Amino acid sequence: MSKYWNRRFAGEGMIWGSEPSPSAAWAKSHFLDAGVRSVLVPGAGYGRNTKVFHPECEVYGIELSESALKLAAEWDSGTAFIAGSALEPQLEHQVDAVYCYDVLHLFLAADRARLIEASLRQVRPGGLLYFTSFSDEDPHNGCGEMLEPGTYEYKKDKYAHFFSEADLRTHFAGMTVVETGSFTESLQSPQGGSHEYILRFILVRNGA
Ligand SMILES: C[S@@+](CC[C@H](N)C(=O)[O-])C[C@H]1O[C@@H](n2cnc3c(N)ncnc32)[C@H](O)[C@@H]1O
Repeated sequence: MSKYWNRRFAGEGMIWGSEPSPSAAWAKSHFLDAGVRSVLVPGAGYGRNTKVFHPECEVYGIELSESALKLAAEWDSGTAFIAGSALEPQLEHQVDAVYCYDVLHLFLAADRARLIEASLRQVRPGGLLYFTSFSDEDPHNGCGEMLEPGTYEYKKDKYAHFFSEADLRTHFAGMTVVETGSFTESLQSPQGGSHEYILRFILVRNGA
């Protein structure tokens, strides 16, 4: 996985441009209303969605790709980026909230559970977690070879898990669901075109 992302960030730079996902502003507004002052961003990439959260919050990003981290150091000096895997806890202290954009669907079932577990361990009791991921309503769902239920190799050497509402809720069982929903994300490509994805999101509180 890190080879794939290293190659893409090294070759394409800021792949999805500099504009953050509207979901980051949405999450921030909910976080601030809940008194959040520190945010962890697992799989932070080059920081497209980290800048939004400061100066109001302290922001930490975990990222595996060295190429992405090089870009991130230039693009967002206000976030503390940590080189490492988001599948394991990386912080020595707990934060108030997690914002995780389009990372969960990249993994098979066992690693999806690890990402959620690691994220949870880094959030204080009562803290918030916001995740986005591919929706089962996205046109790529069901394309290519099925690797596991709901997970398809929808492009050559690239697979993703496509979430139904019920599946997403099951992944976060034991936490209190605050809100779920879906939206269409439009991403600019460096070549000048744009493409759309249908995403789901879930906002949960750490604790029953
Ligand atoms: C689809 S991109 C999303 C990037 C970022 N969340 C954003 O909103 O721009 C997925 C990111 O997850 C990173 N990634 C993949 N596996 C990871 C892991 N185990 N630990 C940390 N980051 C990982 C990739 O390097 C890539 O930057």
